[in-house]
Amino acid sequence: MPIKLNDNYVKAFVSEEELAAMQPEVTKAHELLTSKTGPGNDFTGWVELPTDYDKEEFARIKAAAEKIRKQADVLIVIGIGGSYLGARAAIEFCRSQNYNLLTKDTPQIFFSGNTISSTTLSEMKELVADKDFAVNVISKSGTTTEPSIAFRVFREMLVEKYGEEEAAERIYATTDKEKGTLKALADEKGYQTFVVPDDIGGRYSVLTAVGLLPIAVAGIDIDRLMKGARDAQNALTDPDLKKNDAYKYAALRNVLLRKGKNIEMLVSYEPSFTMMNEWFKQLFGESEGKDGKGIYPAAAIFSTDLHSMGQYIQQGQRILFETVVSFNEPIREVVIKEEADNSDGLNFVAGKGMSYVNRKAMQGTLLAHNDGGVPNIVLEAERMDEYELGYMIYFFEKACAISGYILGVNPFNQPGVESYKKNMFALLGKPGYEDERAALEKRLGL
Ligand code: PA5
Repeated sequence: MPIKLNDNYVKAFVSEEELAAMQPEVTKAHELLTSKTGPGNDFTGWVELPTDYDKEEFARIKAAAEKIRKQADVLIVIGIGGSYLGARAAIEFCRSQNYNLLTKDTPQIFFSGNTISSTTLSEMKELVADKDFAVNVISKSGTTTEPSIAFRVFREMLVEKYGEEEAAERIYATTDKEKGTLKALADEKGYQTFVVPDDIGGRYSVLTAVGLLPIAVAGIDIDRLMKGARDAQNALTDPDLKKNDAYKYAALRNVLLRKGKNIEMLVSYEPSFTMMNEWFKQLFGESEGKDGKGIYPAAAIFSTDLHSMGQYIQQGQRILFETVVSFNEPIREVVIKEEADNSDGLNFVAGKGMSYVNRKAMQGTLLAHNDGGVPNIVLEAERMDEYELGYMIYFFEKACAISGYILGVNPFNQPGVESYKKNMFALLGKPGYEDERAALEKRLGL
């Protein structure tokens, strides 16, 4: 089993009886999801995706990745939220947080259109100015402001550098199969397009073309990624929470929430997990944070953040629980050498791999945080590779859907995201927002 839930460090906080009492709610959530009768049921295409994906498009993704690897030194991936986080998380997880510095045989991959910072965009223009580059623009709606602005800028750069015709050969658009400005532009200019399926929302889309094209460009084996997800799809079907660790995780989260643990901190001891933390935060934050409900998803990389957040976790308000993702094997090892004079006093770890030290740090922290009143759920995985990642993505997606249904929310919508957009459009003078503009400007004292 690629992910195993170890409940040794949560047992003191959730009794067997309390967990078992969750079974009826878990069963109900399972039925809502599998019968596709729950809230948001038209966005559950991700459930079958690892088996039911479009095989013809999958082959086109591999061919396009090959073409990009030949034609470009840099791929700029333009997208935000669910159209960004999964691909970046997967590349850093499977290759490295330092992928762009380490890669030799695959293009560097820069992510743009996930901010409106003029400084960041200007820096990225400078970074790619002298390079051969291609663009993968990703937007399900095809109208999101952040990626639209970045795409306008890089499209212009491509046309200036290569001319209209070759620029079109270097632009790959991932969007709705028929609707939206981006689809219309792609059809008009002749860009190769890939589809974000109608029944899969942004935060559940990493295993569609949204994630798969950039991931494949980075040289990651997307067949193995899908195999991992498929194995999770097949393994996580039993509604019995004693036999289904994703469901057990969902149940434990809800029990802890009811005991006042309002914040979940996802923890890893591997810095290359940093963007997975971000992906997780979006998945759970957007899925559960509504109707005045939801666990607040936070994240940390240990031991790094033990030197900043460790104090709060150990002794601050007792509103936290942690979910620790641990890996049994490191991808690379560094053995600490013996020194004859032991001038730094470190010979007590001489001959040991750093991964051994990291494991002891984790074990010590689990016990210390338990002693401080912080429940810890541990998810044990083998190693950071594409197979484990595919399994992990599906595990979290399924756990999130079940957890959201237990909580009593629609885990597949995000109505709250529109509020800031409406205000921003009104303040920018977008046609159609005239009435709101005056009222907002008054509130801002403009
Ligand atoms: O999960 C979501 O729905 C959001 O994070 C979207 O992915 C994000 O807002 C980008 O939307 P789009 O792909 O339409 O540009």
